Amino acid sequence: MQPSPSGLAAIAPPLPRHVAIVMDGNGRWALGQGRERSAGHQSGLGPVRAVIEAAAQHGIGALTLFAFSSENWARPAGEVASLMNLFCESLDRELPLLQSKGVRLRFIGELSLLEARLRTRIDAAVAATAGNERLQLQVAISYGGRQDILAAARRIAARCERGELRSSELTEAQFAGELALAGLPDPDLYIRTGGEQRISNFLLWNLAYAELYFTDTLWPDFSAADFELALRHYASRQRRFGLTGAQVAG
Ligand code: FPP
Repeated sequence: MQPSPSGLAAIAPPLPRHVAIVMDGNGRWALGQGRERSAGHQSGLGPVRAVIEAAAQHGIGALTLFAFSSENWARPAGEVASLMNLFCESLDRELPLLQSKGVRLRFIGELSLLEARLRTRIDAAVAATAGNERLQLQVAISYGGRQDILAAARRIAARCERGELRSSELTEAQFAGELALAGLPDPDLYIRTGGEQRISNFLLWNLAYAELYFTDTLWPDFSAADFELALRHYASRQRRFGLTGAQVAG
């Protein structure tokens, strides 16, 4: 077995194919140190790197990170500006690492609301990593699960209005194909740091059968070893998808 990024033993299967993470607790981490909230976001970059590397090393095919929600636009302007700066800087700085790890980067969310300088960097990073296949990384920025579902419903309704689709024949798979994560398996594992136990409008459709894992660790303190602990919890769960335990075991 390969050693893990944290030096711990490899994780026994099953491993999730797709992990979704709400990186919560940056603000509290910074305030706890008598610093500005933005310092917490800055310090959140380390765990982002660590989790990307660990996911790639463990052969997890997809990772989706909630970096900024539709509702986060209502935060104080200074915090929003510092987050946008951080996204720009990190795209400039981290691209070589993503390339070296074989990461294909995508962004989900209402990207038209972002500043042009960030959209330009996003487009460039997405194009530069388009040929990578080891890990599919989605960064959710200006993303909301309800907004995602509503946009999909509008596209489906427009197809019905054009006579391309009969509403009675619409399938779950067709609907999912209009969502931001179209083409990816649903997340098997949802991790939320920071002690809160909620979904907060993340991937509402796609998380239907995800295993939920909550930890009190604040995001800037989250390490590869913490990520691996979550993977171990996942491996210990019996996923039943509405069947009985006996059906699944048999
Ligand atoms: C939630 O913590 C975190 C955010 C709104 C920002 C997440 C951003 C990063 C981790 C920075 C780097 C990310 C990428 C993908 C480049 P919070 O501010 O709500 O924390 P609190 O609950 O303690 O206030």
